Amino acid sequence: MADQRTAIDLDHHSEEYAAESTERLAEYRSRCPVAWSEHHGGFWCVSNHELGSAAFRDWESFSNAKFVDRSGDVRGGIVIPSNPSLNLIPDEVDPPQWHGYRRLLNRRFAPAAIDELRPRIRFTTAQMIDAFIERGEADLVLDVANPIPAAVTLEMLNLPIEELELFALPFHEIVYAPAGSDTRRHAEQGFVKIYDRVNELVGERRRHPREDDFMSELIAADIDGEALDDDEIVRIVMQLLGGGIDTTTALLGSVFMYLDEHPELRTRLLDEPGLLVTATEEFMRFYSPIQAIGRSTTRELQFGGEDLGAHEPVLISIASMNRDHHLFREPDSLILDRMPNRHAGFGMGIHRCLGSNLARAMFQETLVGVLKRLPDYRVDRERAESYAVISAVAGWITIPCTFTPGSRLT
Ligand code: HEM
Repeated sequence: MADQRTAIDLDHHSEEYAAESTERLAEYRSRCPVAWSEHHGGFWCVSNHELGSAAFRDWESFSNAKFVDRSGDVRGGIVIPSNPSLNLIPDEVDPPQWHGYRRLLNRRFAPAAIDELRPRIRFTTAQMIDAFIERGEADLVLDVANPIPAAVTLEMLNLPIEELELFALPFHEIVYAPAGSDTRRHAEQGFVKIYDRVNELVGERRRHPREDDFMSELIAADIDGEALDDDEIVRIVMQLLGGGIDTTTALLGSVFMYLDEHPELRTRLLDEPGLLVTATEEFMRFYSPIQAIGRSTTRELQFGGEDLGAHEPVLISIASMNRDHHLFREPDSLILDRMPNRHAGFGMGIHRCLGSNLARAMFQETLVGVLKRLPDYRVDRERAESYAVISAVAGWITIPCTFTPGSRLT
């Protein structure tokens, strides 16, 4: 069967792929936008915008859900190879169940709710910058891009902010640490602790519900008359932590590096609010913080000229969709006022990012905070380090920088 398929040698977990992904994806996109890779048990890769959007939108043929195969193994979900210890709500749930969960969560992430949060995000940003502003040196990932989105997310979920490191670090480490490394082990141990702590907090909230509290609201809620159990609540909280913490971090890291090379754009981004809005979308398109996302076919189907079997993994390359010249003029150039910009950075179809408005707000408030208070930051490019592997997220491990020291605001 496999020999009739258009084959590509794509291992999205390899360092080779990370080093040359832009060129490799351009080749797949033009030569074989649907192709089969034998790596990780075999999967299809979809790499152009038209077919990627079609797969995103056809949730009946391309499922997000986990399933148990004939040999009893857990497969499917949004990462390839499948991760059996993860079972996210709502991202790894298909309709009809998906509707109830999403309806429950939409209100908190609607544009008006996020606008109300902006002053709080601004304050958190000011506090985080205060912690190092007098020193004249900082790490734009570890002191800014990781802790600010993490603190905002914890606050939104009413999780204890004093435990920021417990909740935030494993999500950052897991996306870049190679399998078998000490960092990976550290991250995995960290995840066990997060699970335990979230479980414990759900139990506490059941005993002592709080006013205006995310978990208490989930406990009190029902979907079609049925209350959520602890497992469902923990899976929702884990999803929101994962969504909230390292994705915006990745975007901020890429943009800090870009503005290090293009300092002349810093004042323009501050002075022209309209430019900041279009630039946010263009940075999302160009850097694609989430590079690719998985699906599983639910049936045999013909797609992009290939015969897909039932229950086969499919990787939709968002990074590749976002560089498709059929949709974007000069796709490999960053054009800050690009309009329209129908990028796939937040996904498409029913699972399109629940947190997109929050992500934009966190990104913009953090960027503005840094550009106002560290206007002359210079990155130590020798020591800056990007993720060696970009299987899911493309970002930065560390971005050391120096700047003229300033004074605290809070
Ligand atoms: C720059 C930052 C972000 C990027 C690049 C991003 C990207 C994405 C993408 C590509 C998807 C689609 C997944 C799929 O098709 O299966 C998604 C879904 C999702 N995102 Fe985000 N995201 C970001 C920030 C956030 C934030 C801040 C949150 C919330 C705290 C969040 C929560 C979610 C949730 C809950 C889903 C699943 C929605 C569903 O299944 O209905 N994301 N995100």
